[in-house]
Amino acid sequence: MRFVVLTILLIAAALPVLKADGPLRGSAPRQTLKDAFKGDFVVGAALSQRVFSEEDARGAALVKAQFNTISPENALKWQSVHPRPDTYDFSVADRFVGFGEKNQMVIIGHNLVWHYQTPDWVFQDAKGGAADRATLLERMRDHIHTVVGRYKGRIKGWDVVNEALNADGTLRQSPWFKIIGEDYIAKAFEFAHEADPGAELYYNDYSLEGEAKRKGAIRLIAKLKAQGLSITGVGLQGHSTLDLPSLEDEDATISAFAKLGVKVMITEFDVDVLPGAAAHRGADINTKIDLQDKLDPYRGGLPEPLQVDLAGRYSALFRVFLKHRDVLTRVTFWGVTDRDSWLNNWPVRGRTNYPLLFDRNYKPKLALDAVIQAAE
Ligand code: GLA
Repeated sequence: MRFVVLTILLIAAALPVLKADGPLRGSAPRQTLKDAFKGDFVVGAALSQRVFSEEDARGAALVKAQFNTISPENALKWQSVHPRPDTYDFSVADRFVGFGEKNQMVIIGHNLVWHYQTPDWVFQDAKGGAADRATLLERMRDHIHTVVGRYKGRIKGWDVVNEALNADGTLRQSPWFKIIGEDYIAKAFEFAHEADPGAELYYNDYSLEGEAKRKGAIRLIAKLKAQGLSITGVGLQGHSTLDLPSLEDEDATISAFAKLGVKVMITEFDVDVLPGAAAHRGADINTKIDLQDKLDPYRGGLPEPLQVDLAGRYSALFRVFLKHRDVLTRVTFWGVTDRDSWLNNWPVRGRTNYPLLFDRNYKPKLALDAVIQAAE
């Protein structure tokens, strides 16, 4: 309750400033995101192929102007680079990395070991039954060595394992876990370190701000460190809503990971403004809910009071990030503009969402100015 009140007060306090200087009213040229946070952390976005191939020229221009780090939305996932047992295809991934190099950006690899967007054959034997432990470990080793090895010294950090935890902090019963056993995580980090000893290696997950899941991640990372494995950082995906996670939980979560001696990154940041659909917590991409009018109320545009709420929410979260600038090294948005956000299609397909800092016409939103003001 205290935090609901605090958030309302914060938004109310920010209102006159945002109203006076907001882009909706035409203001002086603003700083770019990468300049506003220079010396604090790098700021980035996840890019679709349309953006990094520059087919979406306006999106690409926005990225070059605003961001100094990039993540691939899909281009480096297992199904994209290694669709069949004997086929690696780096044509698209190479363009992603090339875009980052051409523009001198910090390039992030996402991701090596996950239970989604990984072809079925990975977990199967020749007859379609479950593969055995030795086979799956060898496939994982080959995949990690090939992919990380190809971009050695060029990709700065890898999401080595994505989403290995349940909400209660226990290990998810993924095919990786079921076939290899719980040491699949340690093995993934070991292989990644062998493939590029200079790369930063991360554990990445959503809803780590929840206490039970956060504690599970702390146990996991502490154990990996105790085994002498190289783990550089934890990625808090940061898929947020207008009121969750609380600022208090965000703050406590970053502090808790900092205490473990790992860097903290916000890796897939966005703020969902649409009404919560049932079972709509977290970011499990398999959640699907039918489209209904009441779940999609802003098809014609986001009402001004909500633009203000979104700006206030972004500002408050960035103030928490800035407080931890000594350990928080990166903030990456999941998408560039509202038009390309996955939240238009998750957990309900075909909605009109407004989760990012640039609108469907590539124009800055009130929230962008709020974020830049937070840095000043
Ligand atoms: C998860 C994954 C991302 C992406 C988003 C939704 O958070 O880590 O790669 O798939 O879901 O698009």
